[in-house]
Amino acid sequence: MLRDKYRHALIRTSTILLAPVGALMFPVLRAEAAGPENAAIAATFRTKCAMCHGQDGSGSAVGKTMNVPDLRSPAVQKLPDAEVAQVISNGKGGMPSCKDSLGDDQVQSLVTHIRSLHQNK
Ligand code: HEC
Repeated sequence: MLRDKYRHALIRTSTILLAPVGALMFPVLRAEAAGPENAAIAATFRTKCAMCHGQDGSGSAVGKTMNVPDLRSPAVQKLPDAEVAQVISNGKGGMPSCKDSLGDDQVQSLVTHIRSLHQNK
């Protein structure tokens, strides 16, 4: 029947048109699933830490001249949360103190963020 044929063509055309829209939406939805809090702390890490530690924690060019440790390494990952938080707040060696610019909850989130760098390795 002519009407059936028309309907099939319509379904086919809309599938073809909508598939790329779905593909475009997918990464956006995935970023949402990771949570706005994660996005915020990743941004904090990028602005306050990445210039020395690199976005992935491995150490930037500048950081390497200061001998920053790879944040993903077992040496850092085996430190207790409290010690990582203490270093972020008070600094250590070439690492600046961040307690004036970061709240306690941000420091805690950064500790969690550093743990996740390990998993992304
Ligand atoms: C100006 C460069 C610089 C910036 C900015 C910086 N760090 Fe560091 N960081 C260092 C250096 C240098 C060390 C090594 C310190 C040492 O062991 O003497 C270090 C060490 C560390 C360690 C390992 C501590 C340990 O005991 O081994 C952690 C965790 C860390 N930084 C997290 C951060 C976080 C989170 C930020 C952002 C809030 C940050 N750092 C910003 C330079 C920096």
